[in-house]
Amino acid sequence: MGKIDFKPGNMLYPLPAVLVTTRGSDGKDNIITVAWTGTVCTNPPMLYISVRPERYSYQALKETGEFVVNLTTEAMAKETDFCGVRSGRDLDKFDRTGLHKGRASIVGAPIILESPVNIECRVKEEVPLGSHSMFLADVVHVTVDERYMDQKGSFHLEKADPIVYCHGSYHTIGKALGNFGYSVRKQKKIRKNRTNN
Ligand SMILES: Cc1cc2nc3c(=O)[nH]c(=O)nc-3n(C[C@H](O)[C@H](O)[C@H](O)COP(=O)(O)O)c2cc1C
Repeated sequence: MGKIDFKPGNMLYPLPAVLVTTRGSDGKDNIITVAWTGTVCTNPPMLYISVRPERYSYQALKETGEFVVNLTTEAMAKETDFCGVRSGRDLDKFDRTGLHKGRASIVGAPIILESPVNIECRVKEEVPLGSHSMFLADVVHVTVDERYMDQKGSFHLEKADPIVYCHGSYHTIGKALGNFGYSVRKQKKIRKNRTNN
């Protein structure tokens, strides 16, 4: 098996491409697409986003310390790309994409109603790293779209057709291969029907 050397760089894919919403201290709402994001702690629930200081959104993040991570879907793919190539400095991305804003429960930044999951966050610490500054944040509230809840109270994100960002392109997630722990779970015995039919 041949291997080719690459210079050290970002090669950890696929990643979520999320829409991060902010509300500046001037009251202006904005949306920025972020792929440098991830969960960092279960309890307390924490995540991070890394944003370049030159982004328009950076100022709002810094000033307010609040943001919402809105998960994206196949139906929102174009809007996700748009919010990652146009700046809130020049236009209103809610207006231009037609995405609808809703009130968050705890933070001042709006949620995106089309998004199946809205994760409200409060910045705990900013870590300047180089090209990007990492905002480590507490998750303070989560809302999910009730359309993806089943009768038992389980949430099915896969039904929302979430998308991932994979080395420069957007993809849907494809077929399910198994649930958590399936590799070690015993197969359920198929009970023979012992009746006469
Ligand atoms: C798929 C995708 C992922 C991106 N991820 C990030 C990211 O993690 N951090 C960042 O600072 N910019 C990222 N960008 C670039 C910003 O979204 C882009 O510069 C945007 O126009 C900034 O908006 P703003 O000026 O309104 O804040 C990404 C762009 C795309 C298309």
